[in-house]
Amino acid sequence: MGEALARGYAAPGQTIAVVGRNGERLAQVAAAVEAKGAKSSQGQVDVTDRAGLEAFVEQFDAEYPIDLVIINAGIFDGRKPGEDIEDLDTSLRVLDTNLTGTLTTLHAVLPGMRRRGRGHIVLMSSLAGLTPIGGGLGYSASKAAVVFYGLGLKQLLHPMGIRVTVACPGFVETPITDRHLGWQPFRISPDAAARKIIRGIQCHRAIVAFPLVLHVMTRVAILMPDFVRRIVGRVFSCHAAAGETKMSGKALPSLAPGE
Ligand SMILES: NC(=O)c1ccc[n+]([C@@H]2O[C@H](COP(=O)([O-])OP(=O)(O)OC[C@H]3O[C@@H](n4cnc5c(N)ncnc54)[C@H](OP(=O)(O)O)[C@@H]3O)[C@@H](O)[C@H]2O)c1
Repeated sequence: MGEALARGYAAPGQTIAVVGRNGERLAQVAAAVEAKGAKSSQGQVDVTDRAGLEAFVEQFDAEYPIDLVIINAGIFDGRKPGEDIEDLDTSLRVLDTNLTGTLTTLHAVLPGMRRRGRGHIVLMSSLAGLTPIGGGLGYSASKAAVVFYGLGLKQLLHPMGIRVTVACPGFVETPITDRHLGWQPFRISPDAAARKIIRGIQCHRAIVAFPLVLHVMTRVAILMPDFVRRIVGRVFSCHAAAGETKMSGKALPSLAPGE
């Protein structure tokens, strides 16, 4: 989705920084962005590496003051086939990237935006952040934390001229959903998801959640008695495939058969 979003914003006169761990992938995305006439900068940084991330952002922001940041980096993990509950290490690893990494990126970008009194911060959450997903406890909790952090921050930053949008996609065809073993209704392409997110950003929406049917279901489910949530939880019951996301530049071994 990060690539689709970068391509969506790429145009002559724009400079786009792409950040991730996998240098080859970054080069591909940078080439796609440049093919549309934009300039690009590549930051091969792990979002959990606070010093590395702050150094990259500081240097880029000094040359190209950041007016939009999309904090998109995230991983999906959860209980594996045969497990009933995910282990502590899995939860902590997911929270480290999806929550700590998000806050680290946010706070690296914020000082420049505050100095300039303008900017737009987009946080990538998920519909899994609006209602709990038992098969991905750490994932769901990390995305819920991102929703609340983002919406709380929005209240504080609004008077300073800085906008915040929280994106809550449903199922999108990416390596993340390849690892999600469970029913994935209304799955859409990364380009379709990026178009919806960009439209939401342009309309200055607080939350961009889609598809509508699943968004309404997540909102209703949270208000229902617990037995209803348990039924919904069984319908959306899932596991995570073993191993790390394929695209990663880091530990890739032990992908599940068929991945
Ligand atoms: N796909 C879905 O159905 C769906 C639904 C709702 C929300 N989301 C969210 O959308 C975001 C993008 O995911 P995706 O679906 O597009 O999957 P993806 O293709 O696997 O993208 C994940 C991105 O995060 C980067 N990343 C992961 N860990 C990182 C780290 N420690 N440091 C820096 N970058 C890191 C990856 O780059 P490197 O591997 O190069 O580091 C990759 O570019 C995630 O936050 C995900 O939770 C996805």
